Amino acid sequence: MSLAGRRKSSLAGAGAGAGADAFGAKHAVTSLRKGGRLPVYVASVFFVLCVIVMYGEDIRSLTRVPALTVPATTGGGGGVVGVGGGRQVVVPRRDISASEKPAAVLHHSDQEKPKHAVTTTTTTTTTEPEPVAVVEKPPQDKVDTTKSQKKTSSKKKAKKPRRQRAAKKTVVPPALGVPETCDLSKGRWVFDNTSYPLYREEECQFLTSQVTCMKNGRRDDTYQKWRWQPKDCSMPRFDAKLFMERLRGKRFMFVGDSLNRNQWESMVCLVQSAVSPGKKYVSWEGQRVVFHAWEFNATVEFYWAPFLVESNSDDPKIHSIQHRIIKADTIGAHAENWRGVDYLVFNTYIWWMNTVDMKVMRPGGKSWAEHDEVVRIEAYRKVLTTWASWVNDNIDPARTSVFFMSMSPLHISPQVWGNPDGIRCAKETMPLLDWHGPLWLGMDWDMFHQAKNVSRRASPRVPITFVDITTMSERRKDGHTSVHTIRQGKVLGPEEQADPGTYADCIHWCLPGVPDIWNLVLYTRILSRPALQLE
Ligand SMILES: *[C@@H]1O[C@H](CO)[C@@H](O)[C@H](O)[C@H]1NC(C)=O
Ligand SMILES: *[C@@H]1O[C@H](CO)[C@@H](O)[C@H](O)[C@H]1NC(C)=O
Ligand SMILES: *[C@@H]1O[C@H](CO)[C@@H](O)[C@H](O)[C@H]1NC(C)=O
Repeated sequence: MSLAGRRKSSLAGAGAGAGADAFGAKHAVTSLRKGGRLPVYVASVFFVLCVIVMYGEDIRSLTRVPALTVPATTGGGGGVVGVGGGRQVVVPRRDISASEKPAAVLHHSDQEKPKHAVTTTTTTTTTEPEPVAVVEKPPQDKVDTTKSQKKTSSKKKAKKPRRQRAAKKTVVPPALGVPETCDLSKGRWVFDNTSYPLYREEECQFLTSQVTCMKNGRRDDTYQKWRWQPKDCSMPRFDAKLFMERLRGKRFMFVGDSLNRNQWESMVCLVQSAVSPGKKYVSWEGQRVVFHAWEFNATVEFYWAPFLVESNSDDPKIHSIQHRIIKADTIGAHAENWRGVDYLVFNTYIWWMNTVDMKVMRPGGKSWAEHDEVVRIEAYRKVLTTWASWVNDNIDPARTSVFFMSMSPLHISPQVWGNPDGIRCAKETMPLLDWHGPLWLGMDWDMFHQAKNVSRRASPRVPITFVDITTMSERRKDGHTSVHTIRQGKVLGPEEQADPGTYADCIHWCLPGVPDIWNLVLYTRILSRPALQLE
């Protein structure tokens, strides 16, 4: 069982996807028991599989186990998806989901009650365009809130037509003057402990324990105190009030994988201080996680779609990176949820990385079993083209801004940055400050360039801003959650923390931290442009 044991423990190393949680833990336990009844080699294979499947975002395990073609077994924990062609795919959950909300966020004692959120939100956004009434009532009781809103709306009925007549689109001039031509991706990290961090870990109630590194036992906090200084211009400090004013009456949505969710958490923490207590909360609505800022009638959302196009991994809780199969030309089921959003921020990368080929369902295929293996870069190009065409055909460029975030790098090979005694990203407390030239972290730059090219060219009607966060983040080997994160819903214990070789997550990032800077780039771009606003 030694291999089994090793592999089992490397579960954590993994990306421990935010979501890791009680549900996942149960599956793991089940898996263990079943494994115990099998011959050792079967158990070993099973654990390898299990590790890969559950924490597939960990490229380390993926790169170290190239033989990923072992057929899936159906024993062990996990739901079953893609039952087609007589083939069942075992897919233990690994990500966030509705069922997980208490574990993930209610963990914080001051968390507001998301379970009432869905109904109240619907009311907020679809009925009365008078946020004041809503704001008065925190989402304690959906019935009351609805009533009070209705009351308000009838009270104000006389006024309403006047408001509507007055409503018109006006152009809001840019609040900032950072030129579009200034390349924000080129620059350096500067230690700045007076302006940074932009918020305090303990002050943002919305952070999940996946990213609260200090709370999870990290000792050094220098990683929170770096400002990004672009070479040719400067980025402003994040002004939450200013940004929320821009978001008033609007929806801001991240779409993609857990790295984009990492960035979503950062954005929520960056803006939440501008929203009064009791007038903000997070709700879980299927594939979406939504931060509501009632005072502003605004939302900051995350939508799970790790490939952007449809795939057999679209369920935020039941999916498998090992058995992922995509429909490279089908995006509608997701994209319907992106309509009417004012700011769309996409990404897709990490889920592509464990094999050189991607399973792509044949056009007209009836089940997931009908697929072909397509070279990764080719499949990536197809997917991005599908996505960009949808953007081009369905987005109103006068209303909606579209961004694509480049790849977030992993830091799993310390010898690459000259630290032969390092263990993955653990023990890294400083960025690479004086590094010139390329850094071979395993990034697929072909995919980077492909994404950049498609963003620029494949949607001529709707501009897509390609945001290069890769280069700046490559320098931040110190910024990952490492062993100060969760595994199956629980913060790593002392023994696990003492074994970073197996447990360190070098994919996701501590917050406050690096993703705040990614958001600062978005902030800078958005506020340096004029915008349409309903008055
Ligand atoms: C609130 O936001 C929604 C969309 O996010 C919009 O349809 C609605 O008109 C807004 N209401 C007000 C009062 O701005
Ligand atoms: C900022 O860092 C400097 C140098 O390490 C230190 O002397 C100073 O006390 C720090 N200031 C704050 C506010 O932490
Ligand atoms: C860039 O994209 C355009 C259109 O999408 C395509 O014609 C061209 O071959 C691409 N170039 C590269 C270098 O990928």
